[in-house]
Amino acid sequence: MKGKFITFEGGEGVGKTTQLRMLGQYLQNKGADTVFLREPGGNAISEKIRALILDTGNADMTGMCEAMLYAAARAQLTESVIKPALQEGKLVVCDRFIDSTFAYQGIARGLGGEKIDMLNKMACSGTFPDLTIFLDLPPTVAFSRKGGADADDRLEQEGLAFHVRVYDGYKRACELYKDRIVSVDCSGSAQDTHAKIIEVLSQKGILTR
Ligand code: TMP
Repeated sequence: MKGKFITFEGGEGVGKTTQLRMLGQYLQNKGADTVFLREPGGNAISEKIRALILDTGNADMTGMCEAMLYAAARAQLTESVIKPALQEGKLVVCDRFIDSTFAYQGIARGLGGEKIDMLNKMACSGTFPDLTIFLDLPPTVAFSRKGGADADDRLEQEGLAFHVRVYDGYKRACELYKDRIVSVDCSGSAQDTHAKIIEVLSQKGILTR
């Protein structure tokens, strides 16, 4: 594959959307050939799966059903969008990917990291990110910044204890996959975090300044 694949991870309210917008602007100014995607989503089928998963009416969905739906959305996105874009030499930037399933379903829902690793391997069929940026902010700080959970999103509505487990899950992923995941402290301003991200992307040879 000729292109590069980078993913962004983190809990709710860490400023992921703002950072992706700032990075998008930066890359556009540089004229980089970039595809921005979000998970679950990024194509018509995966967006439908997203609506099913996040629907607050599906409160009785089991953890395994949820994990497999995320994996199904990922399988579709990987084959239909990510692989072709990488083959064309593009820079693919994805808002969430395999580590979200590891942290949310594997650890916070308690399905187990190893089981989720297997599921992730099947879903992305060998297309692993070249680099993952973990936006690191403890959930207590993130939620007070964000001003509470989004009422339309079943996952966000889980209590603080769930989001603390998500955070622990990410920390575990950072340990297990330290060659791929770089942690970026986002307790400072959005501009500070953006500068740190550009620094990491440059150091890793994804961007030239
Ligand atoms: P978002 O906050 O980026 O819109 O993501 C939607 C929600 O889905 C968010 O609460 C995190 C959750 N999620 C998982 O639980 N597992 C996954 O594999 C992915 C991709 C997202």
